[in-house]
Amino acid sequence: MNQNNSTAKIVQRLFNEYIKKHTFKLVISVFCMTLVAAATAINAWMMQPVLDEIFINKNQKLIIIIPLAVLIVAIIKGIASYYQSILMSFVGYKMVSELQLNMLKSLLKCDMSYFSKTNSGTLVSRFLADVGSLSRGVHNVIINIVKDSLTFIFLVGVMFFHDFKLALVAILVFPLVIYPISRIGRRLRKISKNTQVGFGTFTKKLTESMQAIKTIKSFNAEKIEEDKIGVEINNLFNLTFKSSRVNSISRPLMETIGGIAIAAIIFIGGSQVISGSTTPGTFFSFLTALLMAYQPIKSLASLNATLQMAMASAERVFDIIDTKPLIIENLKNKDHHLEINKSYDLFFSNVSFKYDGSKLKNLKNINLEILKGEKVALVGYSGAGKTTLLNLLPRFYEIQKGRITIGDIDIRDLSFDFLRSHFSLVSQDIVLFDETLKYNITYGMKGVGEKEVRDACKKANCSEFIRKFPKGLKEVVGEKGVKLSGGQKQRVAIARAFLKNSPFLLLDEATSALDSRSEKKIHLSLGKLMKNKTSLIIAHRLSTIIDADKIVLIHNGEINDIGKHKELLKSSAIYKNLYELQFKKNINDKKLS
Ligand SMILES: Nc1ncnc2c1ncn2[C@@H]1O[C@H](COP(=O)(O)OP(=O)(O)O)[C@@H](O)[C@H]1O
Ligand SMILES: [Mg+2]
Repeated sequence: MNQNNSTAKIVQRLFNEYIKKHTFKLVISVFCMTLVAAATAINAWMMQPVLDEIFINKNQKLIIIIPLAVLIVAIIKGIASYYQSILMSFVGYKMVSELQLNMLKSLLKCDMSYFSKTNSGTLVSRFLADVGSLSRGVHNVIINIVKDSLTFIFLVGVMFFHDFKLALVAILVFPLVIYPISRIGRRLRKISKNTQVGFGTFTKKLTESMQAIKTIKSFNAEKIEEDKIGVEINNLFNLTFKSSRVNSISRPLMETIGGIAIAAIIFIGGSQVISGSTTPGTFFSFLTALLMAYQPIKSLASLNATLQMAMASAERVFDIIDTKPLIIENLKNKDHHLEINKSYDLFFSNVSFKYDGSKLKNLKNINLEILKGEKVALVGYSGAGKTTLLNLLPRFYEIQKGRITIGDIDIRDLSFDFLRSHFSLVSQDIVLFDETLKYNITYGMKGVGEKEVRDACKKANCSEFIRKFPKGLKEVVGEKGVKLSGGQKQRVAIARAFLKNSPFLLLDEATSALDSRSEKKIHLSLGKLMKNKTSLIIAHRLSTIIDADKIVLIHNGEINDIGKHKELLKSSAIYKNLYELQFKKNINDKKLS
Protein backbone atom coordinates (compact mmCIF):
# COMPACT_ATOMS: atom_id res chain seq x y z
CA MET A 1 0.00 0.00 0.00
CA ASN A 2 2.69 2.35 1.12
CA GLN A 3 4.89 1.40 -1.81
CA ASN A 4 2.05 1.90 -4.26
CA ASN A 5 1.40 5.22 -2.67
CA SER A 6 4.97 6.41 -3.10
CA THR A 7 5.11 4.96 -6.63
CA ALA A 8 2.03 6.96 -7.52
CA LYS A 9 3.62 10.09 -6.09
CA ILE A 10 6.84 9.61 -8.03
CA VAL A 11 4.96 8.88 -11.25
CA GLN A 12 2.90 11.98 -10.76
CA ARG A 13 5.96 14.08 -10.14
CA LEU A 14 7.79 12.68 -13.16
CA PHE A 15 4.77 13.40 -15.28
CA ASN A 16 4.26 16.93 -14.04
CA GLU A 17 7.87 18.04 -14.09
CA TYR A 18 9.46 16.14 -16.94
CA ILE A 19 6.83 14.65 -19.25
CA LYS A 20 3.84 16.95 -19.36
CA LYS A 21 5.71 19.63 -21.29
CA HIS A 22 6.13 17.17 -24.15
CA THR A 23 2.41 16.40 -24.40
CA PHE A 24 2.23 17.33 -28.10
CA LYS A 25 5.08 14.98 -29.04
CA LEU A 26 3.60 12.27 -26.86
CA VAL A 27 0.18 12.56 -28.48
CA ILE A 28 1.71 12.17 -31.94
CA SER A 29 3.80 9.29 -30.67
CA VAL A 30 0.73 7.58 -29.20
CA PHE A 31 -1.06 8.04 -32.52
CA CYS A 32 1.89 6.41 -34.30
CA MET A 33 1.88 3.56 -31.79
CA THR A 34 -1.81 3.00 -32.52
CA LEU A 35 -0.99 2.77 -36.24
CA VAL A 36 1.80 0.27 -35.55
CA ALA A 37 -0.50 -1.85 -33.38
CA ALA A 38 -3.24 -1.75 -35.99
CA ALA A 39 -0.82 -2.65 -38.78
CA THR A 40 0.38 -5.67 -36.80
CA ALA A 41 -3.19 -6.86 -36.34
CA ILE A 42 -4.00 -6.24 -40.03
CA ASN A 43 -1.03 -8.38 -41.02
CA ALA A 44 -2.38 -11.23 -38.94
CA TRP A 45 -5.87 -10.74 -40.29
CA MET A 46 -4.67 -10.77 -43.91
CA MET A 47 -3.52 -14.36 -43.56
CA GLN A 48 -7.13 -15.36 -44.02
CA PRO A 49 -7.77 -13.89 -47.53
CA VAL A 50 -4.26 -14.87 -48.60
CA LEU A 51 -4.92 -18.51 -47.87
CA ASP A 52 -8.58 -18.79 -48.65
CA GLU A 53 -8.79 -16.51 -51.69
CA ILE A 54 -5.38 -16.80 -53.32
CA PHE A 55 -4.21 -20.31 -52.47
CA ILE A 56 -7.49 -22.15 -52.27
CA ASN A 57 -9.94 -20.19 -54.44
CA LYS A 58 -7.17 -18.97 -56.80
CA ASN A 59 -8.75 -15.49 -57.06
CA GLN A 60 -6.95 -13.56 -59.86
CA LYS A 61 -8.02 -10.10 -58.74
CA LEU A 62 -6.80 -10.45 -55.22
CA ILE A 63 -3.32 -11.56 -56.30
CA ILE A 64 -2.68 -7.90 -57.13
CA ILE A 65 -4.71 -6.27 -54.37
CA ILE A 66 -3.42 -8.22 -51.40
CA PRO A 67 0.31 -7.81 -52.05
CA LEU A 68 -0.41 -4.13 -52.66
CA ALA A 69 -2.26 -3.92 -49.36
CA VAL A 70 0.62 -5.71 -47.59
CA LEU A 71 3.03 -3.19 -49.07
CA ILE A 72 0.94 -0.20 -48.05
CA VAL A 73 0.50 -1.54 -44.51
CA ALA A 74 4.26 -2.16 -44.29
CA ILE A 75 5.05 1.38 -45.41
CA ILE A 76 2.56 2.92 -42.97
CA LYS A 77 3.87 0.74 -40.16
CA GLY A 78 7.45 1.69 -41.01
CA ILE A 79 6.79 5.42 -41.01
CA ALA A 80 4.72 5.22 -37.83
CA SER A 81 7.43 3.12 -36.13
CA TYR A 82 10.06 5.65 -37.07
CA TYR A 83 8.19 8.66 -35.70
CA GLN A 84 7.02 6.83 -32.61
CA SER A 85 10.60 5.84 -31.91
CA ILE A 86 12.25 9.22 -32.45
CA LEU A 87 9.57 11.11 -30.55
CA MET A 88 9.84 8.77 -27.58
CA SER A 89 13.64 8.97 -27.69
CA PHE A 90 13.44 12.72 -27.71
CA VAL A 91 11.25 12.73 -24.61
CA GLY A 92 13.47 10.13 -22.91
CA TYR A 93 16.81 11.82 -23.61
CA LYS A 94 15.40 15.24 -22.83
CA MET A 95 14.35 13.82 -19.48
CA VAL A 96 17.87 12.48 -18.89
CA SER A 97 19.46 15.84 -19.54
CA GLU A 98 16.93 17.75 -17.49
CA LEU A 99 17.31 15.39 -14.55
CA GLN A 100 21.09 15.58 -14.75
CA LEU A 101 21.01 19.35 -14.91
CA ASN A 102 18.66 19.58 -11.95
CA MET A 103 20.81 17.18 -9.96
CA LEU A 104 23.88 19.24 -10.78
CA LYS A 105 22.23 22.51 -9.79
CA SER A 106 21.10 21.06 -6.52
CA LEU A 107 24.50 19.48 -5.79
CA LEU A 108 26.37 22.70 -6.42
CA LYS A 109 24.19 24.39 -3.83
CA CYS A 110 24.76 21.70 -1.21
CA ASP A 111 26.67 22.54 1.95
CA MET A 112 30.28 21.53 2.44
CA SER A 113 29.07 19.11 5.10
CA TYR A 114 27.02 17.22 2.49
CA PHE A 115 30.17 16.43 0.55
CA SER A 116 32.01 15.19 3.62
CA LYS A 117 29.36 12.53 4.09
CA THR A 118 28.54 11.65 0.48
CA ASN A 119 30.87 9.66 -1.68
CA SER A 120 31.64 11.13 -5.09
CA GLY A 121 31.63 7.68 -6.76
CA THR A 122 28.08 7.10 -5.55
CA LEU A 123 27.10 10.50 -6.88
CA VAL A 124 28.60 9.78 -10.29
CA SER A 125 26.73 6.48 -10.43
CA ARG A 126 23.47 8.28 -9.72
CA PHE A 127 24.14 10.71 -12.55
CA LEU A 128 24.85 7.92 -15.02
CA ALA A 129 23.34 4.60 -14.01
CA ASP A 130 20.25 5.77 -12.15
CA VAL A 131 19.26 8.52 -14.55
CA GLY A 132 19.75 6.07 -17.42
CA SER A 133 17.67 3.35 -15.84
CA LEU A 134 14.95 5.82 -14.91
CA SER A 135 14.64 7.18 -18.41
CA ARG A 136 14.76 3.70 -19.99
CA GLY A 137 12.07 2.64 -17.53
CA VAL A 138 9.77 5.54 -18.36
CA HIS A 139 10.34 4.99 -22.08
CA ASN A 140 9.54 1.27 -21.81
CA VAL A 141 6.55 1.75 -19.56
CA ILE A 142 4.94 4.21 -21.98
CA ILE A 143 5.59 1.89 -24.91
CA ASN A 144 4.26 -1.05 -22.88
CA ILE A 145 1.14 0.72 -21.85
CA VAL A 146 0.30 2.12 -25.25
CA LYS A 147 1.86 0.10 -28.04
CA ASP A 148 1.96 -3.33 -26.46
CA SER A 149 -1.48 -3.25 -24.94
CA LEU A 150 -3.04 -1.90 -28.14
CA THR A 151 -1.24 -4.53 -30.21
CA PHE A 152 -2.45 -7.19 -27.81
CA ILE A 153 -6.03 -5.90 -27.85
CA PHE A 154 -6.13 -5.68 -31.65
CA LEU A 155 -4.69 -9.16 -32.08
CA VAL A 156 -7.13 -10.64 -29.58
CA GLY A 157 -9.81 -8.78 -31.54
CA VAL A 158 -8.73 -10.61 -34.71
CA MET A 159 -8.88 -13.90 -32.82
CA PHE A 160 -12.38 -13.28 -31.47
CA PHE A 161 -13.52 -12.05 -34.87
CA HIS A 162 -12.46 -15.35 -36.42
CA ASP A 163 -13.47 -17.84 -33.76
CA PHE A 164 -15.02 -16.92 -30.46
CA LYS A 165 -14.70 -20.34 -28.77
CA LEU A 166 -11.12 -20.90 -29.86
CA ALA A 167 -10.19 -17.38 -28.73
CA LEU A 168 -11.53 -18.15 -25.26
CA VAL A 169 -9.31 -21.25 -25.08
CA ALA A 170 -6.26 -19.26 -26.15
CA ILE A 171 -7.02 -16.45 -23.72
CA LEU A 172 -7.03 -18.95 -20.85
CA VAL A 173 -3.36 -19.66 -21.55
CA PHE A 174 -2.23 -16.07 -21.08
CA PRO A 175 -2.46 -15.99 -17.28
CA LEU A 176 -0.19 -19.03 -17.33
CA VAL A 177 2.40 -16.87 -19.08
CA ILE A 178 1.93 -13.77 -16.97
CA TYR A 179 2.58 -15.42 -13.62
CA PRO A 180 6.11 -16.76 -14.23
CA ILE A 181 7.12 -13.66 -16.17
CA SER A 182 6.11 -11.31 -13.41
CA ARG A 183 7.98 -13.50 -10.90
CA ILE A 184 11.07 -13.30 -13.06
CA GLY A 185 10.56 -9.56 -13.20
CA ARG A 186 10.62 -9.32 -9.41
CA ARG A 187 13.88 -11.23 -9.22
CA LEU A 188 15.38 -9.05 -11.93
CA ARG A 189 14.44 -5.97 -9.98
CA LYS A 190 16.31 -7.15 -6.94
CA ILE A 191 19.38 -7.99 -9.00
CA SER A 192 19.24 -4.66 -10.74
CA LYS A 193 19.15 -2.81 -7.44
CA ASN A 194 22.25 -4.67 -6.30
CA THR A 195 23.91 -3.96 -9.63
CA GLN A 196 23.27 -0.26 -9.21
CA VAL A 197 24.82 -0.33 -5.73
CA GLY A 198 27.74 -2.43 -7.00
CA PHE A 199 28.34 0.01 -9.82
CA GLY A 200 28.50 2.86 -7.30
CA THR A 201 31.06 1.05 -5.12
CA PHE A 202 33.08 0.16 -8.20
CA THR A 203 33.31 3.77 -9.44
CA LYS A 204 34.09 4.94 -5.93
CA LYS A 205 36.98 2.51 -5.43
CA LEU A 206 38.29 3.04 -8.94
CA THR A 207 38.46 6.84 -8.74
CA GLU A 208 39.90 6.62 -5.24
CA SER A 209 42.67 4.35 -6.50
CA MET A 210 43.55 6.62 -9.39
CA GLN A 211 43.73 9.56 -7.04
CA ALA A 212 45.92 7.73 -4.53
CA ILE A 213 48.22 6.29 -7.19
CA LYS A 214 51.34 7.77 -5.58
CA THR A 215 50.55 6.24 -2.20
CA ILE A 216 49.82 2.91 -3.89
CA LYS A 217 53.15 2.93 -5.68
CA SER A 218 55.17 3.96 -2.68
CA PHE A 219 53.69 1.13 -0.63
CA ASN A 220 54.02 -1.36 -3.49
CA ALA A 221 50.31 -1.87 -3.01
CA GLU A 222 49.30 -2.50 -6.64
CA LYS A 223 48.27 -6.04 -5.77
CA ILE A 224 46.12 -4.85 -2.84
CA GLU A 225 44.28 -2.47 -5.15
CA GLU A 226 43.98 -5.07 -7.87
CA ASP A 227 42.42 -7.50 -5.40
CA LYS A 228 40.20 -4.89 -3.79
CA ILE A 229 38.80 -3.57 -7.08
CA GLY A 230 38.88 -7.05 -8.58
CA VAL A 231 36.29 -8.06 -5.98
CA GLU A 232 33.99 -5.33 -7.27
CA ILE A 233 34.57 -6.27 -10.89
CA ASN A 234 33.80 -9.87 -10.06
CA ASN A 235 30.72 -8.83 -8.11
CA LEU A 236 29.48 -6.88 -11.12
CA PHE A 237 30.16 -9.88 -13.36
CA ASN A 238 28.14 -12.13 -11.05
CA LEU A 239 25.24 -9.72 -10.93
CA THR A 240 25.07 -8.98 -14.64
CA PHE A 241 25.45 -12.64 -15.51
CA LYS A 242 22.78 -13.61 -12.99
CA SER A 243 20.48 -11.00 -14.44
CA SER A 244 21.06 -12.32 -17.94
CA ARG A 245 20.52 -15.91 -16.72
CA VAL A 246 17.21 -15.05 -15.08
CA ASN A 247 16.23 -13.11 -18.17
CA SER A 248 17.14 -16.04 -20.42
CA ILE A 249 14.71 -18.33 -18.59
CA SER A 250 11.78 -16.29 -19.77
CA ARG A 251 12.08 -17.05 -23.48
CA PRO A 252 12.21 -20.88 -23.31
CA LEU A 253 9.54 -20.76 -20.63
CA MET A 254 7.24 -18.73 -22.81
CA GLU A 255 7.94 -20.89 -25.82
CA THR A 256 7.04 -24.02 -23.89
CA ILE A 257 3.79 -22.54 -22.61
CA GLY A 258 3.18 -21.11 -26.07
CA GLY A 259 3.82 -24.58 -27.48
CA ILE A 260 1.09 -26.02 -25.28
CA ALA A 261 -1.34 -23.36 -26.45
CA ILE A 262 -0.46 -23.83 -30.10
CA ALA A 263 -0.76 -27.59 -29.81
CA ALA A 264 -4.23 -27.20 -28.30
CA ILE A 265 -5.27 -24.71 -30.99
CA ILE A 266 -3.99 -26.95 -33.79
CA PHE A 267 -5.88 -29.86 -32.32
CA ILE A 268 -9.19 -28.01 -31.88
CA GLY A 269 -8.88 -25.70 -34.88
CA GLY A 270 -7.54 -28.45 -37.11
CA SER A 271 -10.54 -30.67 -36.28
CA GLN A 272 -12.83 -27.77 -37.22
CA VAL A 273 -11.06 -27.33 -40.58
CA ILE A 274 -11.31 -31.08 -41.27
CA SER A 275 -15.00 -31.10 -40.37
CA GLY A 276 -15.45 -28.06 -42.64
CA SER A 277 -16.87 -25.75 -40.00
CA THR A 278 -14.04 -23.26 -40.59
CA THR A 279 -11.67 -22.39 -43.48
CA PRO A 280 -7.90 -23.01 -43.42
CA GLY A 281 -7.38 -19.26 -43.92
CA THR A 282 -9.35 -18.41 -40.83
CA PHE A 283 -7.42 -20.98 -38.87
CA PHE A 284 -4.00 -19.71 -39.98
CA SER A 285 -4.96 -16.11 -39.45
CA PHE A 286 -6.06 -17.04 -35.93
CA LEU A 287 -2.77 -18.86 -35.28
CA THR A 288 -0.73 -15.94 -36.60
CA ALA A 289 -2.54 -13.52 -34.29
CA LEU A 290 -1.95 -15.85 -31.38
CA LEU A 291 1.77 -16.13 -32.12
CA MET A 292 2.11 -12.39 -32.55
CA ALA A 293 0.34 -11.75 -29.25
CA TYR A 294 3.17 -13.28 -27.23
CA GLN A 295 5.64 -10.47 -27.67
CA PRO A 296 3.32 -7.74 -26.29
CA ILE A 297 2.07 -10.02 -23.51
CA LYS A 298 5.64 -10.70 -22.49
CA SER A 299 6.40 -6.98 -22.30
CA LEU A 300 3.19 -6.34 -20.40
CA ALA A 301 4.01 -9.07 -17.91
CA SER A 302 7.27 -7.34 -17.01
CA LEU A 303 5.61 -3.93 -16.90
CA ASN A 304 5.42 -3.82 -13.12
CA ALA A 305 9.03 -4.91 -12.69
CA THR A 306 10.22 -2.27 -15.17
CA LEU A 307 8.16 0.32 -13.37
CA GLN A 308 9.49 -0.64 -9.94
CA MET A 309 13.08 -0.63 -11.18
CA ALA A 310 12.63 2.84 -12.63
CA MET A 311 10.96 4.01 -9.42
CA ALA A 312 13.87 2.82 -7.29
CA SER A 313 16.21 4.84 -9.51
CA ALA A 314 13.82 7.80 -9.47
CA GLU A 315 13.90 7.81 -5.69
CA ARG A 316 17.70 8.02 -5.67
CA VAL A 317 17.68 10.74 -8.34
CA PHE A 318 15.02 12.85 -6.59
CA ASP A 319 16.88 12.35 -3.35
CA ILE A 320 19.70 14.45 -4.81
CA ILE A 321 17.41 16.95 -6.51
CA ASP A 322 15.57 17.50 -3.22
CA THR A 323 18.63 17.94 -1.05
CA LYS A 324 18.31 21.36 0.47
CA PRO A 325 21.28 23.22 1.86
CA LEU A 326 21.08 23.87 5.58
CA ILE A 327 23.06 27.06 5.25
CA ILE A 328 20.50 29.39 3.79
CA GLU A 329 21.19 32.70 2.21
CA ASN A 330 19.27 35.56 3.76
CA LEU A 331 17.53 37.18 0.83
CA LYS A 332 16.55 40.26 2.82
CA ASN A 333 20.26 40.89 2.92
CA LYS A 334 21.57 44.02 4.43
CA ASP A 335 24.42 44.40 1.95
CA HIS A 336 23.49 47.97 1.28
CA HIS A 337 24.81 48.96 4.69
CA LEU A 338 28.29 47.97 3.57
CA GLU A 339 30.40 49.13 0.68
CA ILE A 340 31.71 46.65 -1.79
CA ASN A 341 35.45 46.07 -1.66
CA LYS A 342 36.02 47.91 1.56
CA SER A 343 37.65 46.62 4.71
CA TYR A 344 35.65 46.51 7.91
CA ASP A 345 36.26 45.31 11.43
CA LEU A 346 35.55 41.63 11.93
CA PHE A 347 34.18 40.28 15.19
CA PHE A 348 33.68 36.82 16.56
CA SER A 349 31.44 36.98 19.62
CA ASN A 350 30.92 33.84 21.67
CA VAL A 351 31.16 31.63 18.61
CA SER A 352 30.83 27.88 19.07
CA PHE A 353 30.89 25.35 16.29
CA LYS A 354 30.71 21.58 15.87
CA TYR A 355 31.01 19.57 12.65
CA ASP A 356 28.18 17.20 11.79
CA GLY A 357 28.84 13.95 13.58
CA SER A 358 31.64 15.35 15.69
CA LYS A 359 31.43 14.40 19.37
CA LEU A 360 32.90 17.53 20.86
CA LYS A 361 32.71 21.15 19.90
CA ASN A 362 35.44 21.97 17.39
CA LEU A 363 35.43 25.63 18.38
CA LYS A 364 34.31 26.91 21.78
CA ASN A 365 33.38 30.43 22.85
CA ILE A 366 35.55 32.22 20.35
CA ASN A 367 35.80 35.94 21.04
CA LEU A 368 38.06 37.71 18.64
CA GLU A 369 38.32 41.10 17.04
CA ILE A 370 40.18 41.71 13.85
CA LEU A 371 40.37 45.41 13.11
CA LYS A 372 40.49 46.60 9.54
CA GLY A 373 43.97 46.57 8.08
CA GLU A 374 45.32 44.20 10.72
CA LYS A 375 47.43 41.14 10.02
CA VAL A 376 46.37 38.46 12.42
CA ALA A 377 48.25 35.18 12.70
CA LEU A 378 46.53 32.02 13.91
CA VAL A 379 48.80 29.45 15.50
CA GLY A 380 48.20 26.17 17.27
CA TYR A 381 48.87 22.46 17.11
CA SER A 382 47.51 20.45 14.24
CA GLY A 383 43.81 19.75 14.77
CA ALA A 384 43.38 22.75 17.08
CA GLY A 385 40.69 24.32 14.87
CA LYS A 386 42.56 26.95 12.84
CA THR A 387 41.26 25.90 9.43
CA THR A 388 37.81 25.50 10.92
CA LEU A 389 37.88 29.08 12.12
CA LEU A 390 38.71 30.34 8.61
CA ASN A 391 35.96 28.14 7.13
CA LEU A 392 33.35 29.93 9.21
CA LEU A 393 33.93 33.33 7.66
CA PRO A 394 32.66 32.61 4.11
CA ARG A 395 29.91 30.50 5.80
CA PHE A 396 31.21 27.21 4.45
CA TYR A 397 29.88 25.88 7.75
CA GLU A 398 27.25 27.40 9.99
CA ILE A 399 28.00 28.27 13.60
CA GLN A 400 25.70 26.90 16.26
CA LYS A 401 26.17 29.66 18.78
CA GLY A 402 27.29 33.27 18.79
CA ARG A 403 27.74 35.80 16.06
CA ILE A 404 30.28 36.76 13.45
CA THR A 405 30.00 40.31 12.19
CA ILE A 406 31.57 42.37 9.44
CA GLY A 407 31.25 46.09 10.07
CA ASP A 408 28.54 45.31 12.67
CA ILE A 409 26.44 43.26 10.24
CA ASP A 410 25.95 39.60 11.05
CA ILE A 411 27.41 37.52 8.23
CA ARG A 412 24.13 35.57 8.16
CA ASP A 413 22.40 38.76 7.02
CA LEU A 414 24.64 39.19 3.98
CA SER A 415 24.13 37.65 0.56
CA PHE A 416 26.58 34.88 -0.38
CA ASP A 417 27.64 36.97 -3.31
CA PHE A 418 28.60 39.90 -1.16
CA LEU A 419 30.09 37.86 1.67
CA ARG A 420 32.18 35.55 -0.45
CA SER A 421 33.45 38.26 -2.75
CA HIS A 422 34.87 39.94 0.33
CA PHE A 423 37.24 37.10 1.08
CA SER A 424 40.16 35.75 -0.90
CA LEU A 425 40.97 32.29 0.27
CA VAL A 426 44.39 30.79 -0.32
CA SER A 427 44.23 27.34 1.18
CA GLN A 428 46.80 24.62 1.77
CA ASP A 429 45.35 22.09 -0.58
CA ILE A 430 44.90 24.02 -3.78
CA VAL A 431 43.02 21.97 -6.33
CA LEU A 432 43.37 23.34 -9.83
CA PHE A 433 41.11 22.50 -12.76
CA ASP A 434 42.56 20.48 -15.60
CA GLU A 435 42.53 23.57 -17.81
CA THR A 436 44.99 26.25 -18.83
CA LEU A 437 46.93 28.31 -16.32
CA LYS A 438 45.05 31.36 -17.46
CA TYR A 439 41.73 29.64 -16.88
CA ASN A 440 42.80 28.73 -13.36
CA ILE A 441 44.16 32.14 -12.54
CA THR A 442 41.10 34.02 -13.76
CA TYR A 443 38.65 31.41 -12.48
CA GLY A 444 35.29 32.91 -11.55
CA MET A 445 36.26 36.42 -12.64
CA LYS A 446 34.66 38.15 -15.57
CA GLY A 447 36.33 40.36 -18.13
CA VAL A 448 39.91 40.08 -16.97
CA GLY A 449 42.34 41.41 -19.57
CA GLU A 450 45.59 39.83 -20.66
CA LYS A 451 47.61 42.63 -19.10
CA GLU A 452 45.93 42.26 -15.71
CA VAL A 453 46.66 38.54 -15.74
CA ARG A 454 50.31 39.15 -16.54
CA ASP A 455 50.49 41.79 -13.82
CA ALA A 456 49.00 39.45 -11.25
CA CYS A 457 51.40 36.70 -12.28
CA LYS A 458 54.31 39.05 -11.90
CA LYS A 459 53.22 40.16 -8.45
CA ALA A 460 52.64 36.58 -7.39
CA ASN A 461 56.05 35.53 -8.73
CA CYS A 462 54.47 33.16 -11.21
CA SER A 463 55.86 34.66 -14.41
CA GLU A 464 59.15 32.85 -14.22
CA PHE A 465 57.79 29.32 -13.98
CA ILE A 466 54.98 30.06 -16.40
CA ARG A 467 57.53 31.13 -18.97
CA LYS A 468 59.20 27.74 -18.66
CA PHE A 469 56.10 25.97 -19.94
CA PRO A 470 56.11 25.68 -23.73
CA LYS A 471 52.62 27.12 -23.96
CA GLY A 472 53.02 29.67 -21.19
CA LEU A 473 49.68 30.80 -19.79
CA LYS A 474 47.96 28.46 -22.23
CA GLU A 475 49.59 25.39 -20.66
CA VAL A 476 47.05 22.88 -19.37
CA VAL A 477 47.95 22.00 -15.80
CA GLY A 478 46.80 18.37 -15.60
CA GLU A 479 44.33 16.77 -13.21
CA LYS A 480 44.24 18.77 -9.98
CA GLY A 481 47.28 20.67 -11.28
CA VAL A 482 49.78 17.78 -11.19
CA LYS A 483 52.17 19.60 -13.50
CA LEU A 484 52.81 22.24 -10.85
CA SER A 485 54.79 21.96 -7.63
CA GLY A 486 53.16 22.75 -4.29
CA GLY A 487 54.80 26.16 -4.16
CA GLN A 488 53.81 26.93 -7.76
CA LYS A 489 50.21 26.01 -7.08
CA GLN A 490 50.22 28.28 -4.07
CA ARG A 491 51.56 31.11 -6.20
CA VAL A 492 48.79 30.50 -8.76
CA ALA A 493 46.35 30.86 -5.89
CA ILE A 494 48.05 34.06 -4.84
CA ALA A 495 47.84 35.42 -8.41
CA ARG A 496 44.13 34.65 -8.26
CA ALA A 497 43.88 36.57 -5.01
CA PHE A 498 45.62 39.56 -6.62
CA LEU A 499 43.05 39.58 -9.39
CA LYS A 500 40.13 39.09 -7.05
CA ASN A 501 41.44 41.92 -4.90
CA SER A 502 39.09 41.31 -1.96
CA PRO A 503 39.51 43.39 1.18
CA PHE A 504 39.99 40.32 3.36
CA LEU A 505 42.62 37.70 2.88
CA LEU A 506 42.28 34.25 4.43
CA LEU A 507 45.48 32.34 4.13
CA ASP A 508 46.36 28.84 5.19
CA GLU A 509 50.11 28.72 4.79
CA ALA A 510 51.58 25.57 3.31
CA THR A 511 52.97 23.26 5.97
CA SER A 512 55.04 21.29 3.53
CA ALA A 513 58.56 22.57 3.76
CA LEU A 514 59.24 24.69 0.73
CA ASP A 515 62.82 25.33 -0.22
CA SER A 516 64.02 28.69 0.96
CA ARG A 517 64.04 30.14 -2.55
CA SER A 518 60.34 29.51 -3.22
CA GLU A 519 59.61 30.30 0.40
CA LYS A 520 61.15 33.71 -0.12
CA LYS A 521 59.22 34.22 -3.33
CA ILE A 522 55.95 33.37 -1.67
CA HIS A 523 56.81 35.64 1.21
CA LEU A 524 57.51 38.53 -1.14
CA SER A 525 54.32 38.09 -3.10
CA LEU A 526 52.24 37.70 0.03
CA GLY A 527 53.72 40.89 1.40
CA LYS A 528 52.48 42.71 -1.69
CA LEU A 529 49.10 40.99 -1.54
CA MET A 530 48.49 41.88 2.09
CA LYS A 531 49.09 45.54 1.55
CA ASN A 532 45.96 47.53 2.43
CA LYS A 533 44.09 44.35 3.27
CA THR A 534 42.88 42.76 6.45
CA SER A 535 44.43 39.35 6.69
CA LEU A 536 43.90 36.30 8.78
CA ILE A 537 46.74 33.87 8.35
CA ILE A 538 47.27 30.39 9.66
CA ALA A 539 50.97 30.75 10.22
CA HIS A 540 53.63 28.13 9.73
CA ARG A 541 56.49 30.50 9.00
CA LEU A 542 58.47 32.55 11.43
CA SER A 543 58.31 35.72 9.37
CA THR A 544 54.52 35.67 9.46
CA ILE A 545 54.30 35.59 13.24
CA ILE A 546 56.96 38.23 13.61
CA ASP A 547 55.19 40.57 11.16
CA ALA A 548 51.73 39.98 12.64
CA ASP A 549 49.87 42.72 14.49
CA LYS A 550 48.65 40.03 16.79
CA ILE A 551 48.97 36.32 17.20
CA VAL A 552 46.01 34.21 18.24
CA LEU A 553 46.91 30.93 19.89
CA ILE A 554 44.24 28.30 19.40
CA HIS A 555 44.31 25.24 21.58
CA ASN A 556 41.70 22.47 21.53
CA GLY A 557 39.15 24.70 19.83
CA GLU A 558 39.57 27.58 22.23
CA ILE A 559 41.50 30.81 22.13
CA ASN A 560 44.23 30.22 24.63
CA ASP A 561 46.07 33.48 24.32
CA ILE A 562 46.42 36.58 22.15
CA GLY A 563 49.45 38.80 21.90
CA LYS A 564 52.64 39.73 20.08
CA HIS A 565 55.38 37.21 19.52
CA LYS A 566 57.62 38.39 22.35
CA GLU A 567 54.75 38.65 24.85
CA LEU A 568 53.47 35.18 24.07
CA LEU A 569 56.92 33.64 24.38
CA LYS A 570 56.92 34.88 27.95
CA SER A 571 53.28 34.33 28.87
CA SER A 572 52.38 31.02 27.21
CA ALA A 573 54.07 27.67 27.67
CA ILE A 574 52.07 26.23 24.77
CA TYR A 575 53.22 29.01 22.48
CA LYS A 576 56.81 28.55 23.55
CA ASN A 577 56.63 24.85 22.83
CA LEU A 578 54.98 25.43 19.46
CA TYR A 579 57.62 27.97 18.60
CA GLU A 580 60.44 25.57 19.41
CA LEU A 581 58.79 22.78 17.40
CA GLN A 582 57.50 24.59 14.40
CA PHE A 583 58.89 28.04 13.87
CA LYS A 584 62.40 27.97 15.20
CA LYS A 585 63.63 25.57 12.52
CA ASN A 586 62.79 28.25 10.00
CA ILE A 587 65.51 30.39 11.51
CA ASN A 588 68.05 27.86 10.38
CA ASP A 589 66.48 27.86 6.91
CA LYS A 590 66.80 31.61 6.86
CA LYS A 591 70.46 31.44 7.78
CA LEU A 592 71.11 28.94 5.03
CA SER A 593 69.59 31.08 2.34
N1 LIG B 1 34.82 18.11 7.66
C1 LIG B 1 35.04 17.75 8.94
N2 LIG B 1 34.16 16.94 9.56
C2 LIG B 1 34.36 16.58 10.84
N3 LIG B 1 35.40 16.96 11.59
C3 LIG B 1 36.32 17.76 11.02
C4 LIG B 1 36.19 18.19 9.67
N4 LIG B 1 37.25 18.98 9.38
C5 LIG B 1 38.00 19.03 10.49
N5 LIG B 1 37.45 18.31 11.49
C6 LIG B 1 37.95 18.17 12.88
O1 LIG B 1 37.98 19.44 13.47
C7 LIG B 1 39.13 19.61 14.25
C8 LIG B 1 39.87 20.86 13.82
O2 LIG B 1 40.36 20.68 12.51
P1 LIG B 1 41.14 21.84 11.73
O3 LIG B 1 40.41 23.09 11.92
O4 LIG B 1 41.33 21.36 10.35
O5 LIG B 1 42.53 21.86 12.49
P2 LIG B 1 43.82 22.73 12.20
O6 LIG B 1 44.01 23.58 13.38
O7 LIG B 1 44.94 21.74 12.06
O8 LIG B 1 43.59 23.50 10.95
C9 LIG B 1 39.95 18.35 14.08
O9 LIG B 1 39.74 17.56 15.23
C10 LIG B 1 39.37 17.68 12.86
O10 LIG B 1 39.42 16.29 13.00
MG1 LIG C 1 44.54 23.23 9.08
